[in-house]
Amino acid sequence: DEGRGLEIVAAAADEPGTLIGTVIPPHSPVLDELLAGRPVFVDDSATDPRMITQVAWRFGPSMLLPLESGGRVLGTLAVPREPGAPRFSEAEKSLAARFAAQAALALVMADALHDRERLAVYEDRDRIARDLHDLVIQRLFATGMTLQSARRATCEPEVAGRIGQAVDELDATIAEIRTAIFALQQDPGEAQAGLRTRVLRETGIAAAALGFQPSVRFVGAVDARVGERTTKNLIAALREALSNALRHAGASRIEVTVDATATLAGGCPAVRLTVADDGVGLPREGRRSGLANLRRRAERLGGAARWGPGIGAAGGGTALCWTAPL
Ligand SMILES: Nc1ncnc2c1ncn2[C@@H]1O[C@H](COP(=O)(O)OP(=O)(O)OP(=O)(O)O)[C@@H](O)[C@H]1O
Ligand SMILES: [Mg+2]
Repeated sequence: DEGRGLEIVAAAADEPGTLIGTVIPPHSPVLDELLAGRPVFVDDSATDPRMITQVAWRFGPSMLLPLESGGRVLGTLAVPREPGAPRFSEAEKSLAARFAAQAALALVMADALHDRERLAVYEDRDRIARDLHDLVIQRLFATGMTLQSARRATCEPEVAGRIGQAVDELDATIAEIRTAIFALQQDPGEAQAGLRTRVLRETGIAAAALGFQPSVRFVGAVDARVGERTTKNLIAALREALSNALRHAGASRIEVTVDATATLAGGCPAVRLTVADDGVGLPREGRRSGLANLRRRAERLGGAARWGPGIGAAGGGTALCWTAPL
């Protein structure tokens, strides 16, 4: 990494433990050469002024070879000899350079394979999540509606009570499935990515389906201030809002704002997500499922969610405003 130097992460030596973790600091002369893709040959590591790590004095002649593939430097292969050992010959140098090129290729291939496997898993999980959302939840909803109209139709209080219970059960089941969907959609590697990256990833994915890129604005130090639990929930809310805008709004413009300098009604510091579109606007009445769910998520964190007019001409469209403590 250009900003952080190079760290020794693997060593084949008698005492690898004493080498691993050694850092070649950023902007050292050797590092600049290596990052430019050029090998560095040193006649004596112990005395060469370019060798500035605390382990260099233990070695004699050294070769430092960039592991480069497709113009990207993945790391460095260091091949040192004992102090006083003969220098590397031209033949040895060129052999080592070729070996480094092949090693880099092997690293890239292994990486690509790993990515492909991960992608396959995610695609599968996505499909399951989509099926649960589009098929199972919608059907449970429809069943709930049928039951509710049956309840209104009966004049037997006992029957009405039982039907009411069944509807509650269905609601609880839907909530559980939603939690499972949410878990399925979490990328295990995603926990390391900051809020900013994750927001941009979501809007990027939505852009492909929408045919235009939502605008995104960040206010304040969103990565540093917002905790993991709130981040996860905010991403779920953003995903729901974008999916609504895509499916219901017919919008031509979407503006996403993440403001880490907001406050809650009580004065508690908070993060506010706003997703505004210029589409047809929310119907006044009607069922709320995804929206109700994201409001519940906000409230569970001690926050709030509300919706109102969006950014269409004359106050048209929908804006969702989702706030939770940092
Ligand atoms: N951005 C929007 N623009 C216009 N109408 C919307 C928008 N978001 C939601 N709606 C309307 O509000 C209704 C409720 O939205 P909600 O997200 O709660 O449920 P849903 O999207 O229909 O179902 P689910 O979220 O479970 O897939 C939608 O059915 C749709 O009619
Ligand atoms: Mg929805």
